[in-house]
Amino acid sequence: MKSIFSHSEEETRTFGREIGKSLSKGDIVALFGELGAGKTVLVKGICEGLGITEGVKSPSFTIVREYISQKPRQSANKVYHIDLYRITDPSTILVQEIYEYLRKRNGIYIIEWADRIEDILPPNTIKIYLKIINETTREIFCP
Ligand SMILES: Nc1ncnc2c1ncn2[C@@H]1O[C@H](COP(=O)(O)OP(=O)(O)OP(=O)(O)O)[C@@H](O)[C@H]1O
Ligand SMILES: [Mg+2]
Repeated sequence: MKSIFSHSEEETRTFGREIGKSLSKGDIVALFGELGAGKTVLVKGICEGLGITEGVKSPSFTIVREYISQKPRQSANKVYHIDLYRITDPSTILVQEIYEYLRKRNGIYIIEWADRIEDILPPNTIKIYLKIINETTREIFCP
């Protein structure tokens, strides 16, 4: 179990970069944490660590955004950024589709609001919990 405290957006991003460098194709990173906890900030860092240079932002009209790494590592050149915020009442079909999608292990998957599909996350999913401590402090916890 590992818990760190981040005191700024930049620190969270730096932490994300380190995580990104350690990922390889097929990895699934599931992020948990309330609104404004810093999930997207962490995703930006993870993507930087993976060599993504294009703008990383949460998918707004779709559930998934796909990025291509400019310096692929371990054949992982695709990163899928999934945001399930709007999926408040996941239909069985949608959850099934996401399950099939993850199962392909086609790239690296990073999921915001992963609690929405916690039941279908594979056992080796990397789970990261973000907690707001105060305005600028976040606890980032990896069980
Ligand atoms: N230590 C910190 N780490 C990350 N973000 C921080 C920190 N301190 C303050 N912030 C601020 O908190 C906000 C985090 O926003 P972010 O979009 O990453 O959250 P989120 O968890 O993705 O929220 P949402 O559920 O809306 O997607 C940003 O405005 C950021 O500047
Ligand atoms: Mg977000």
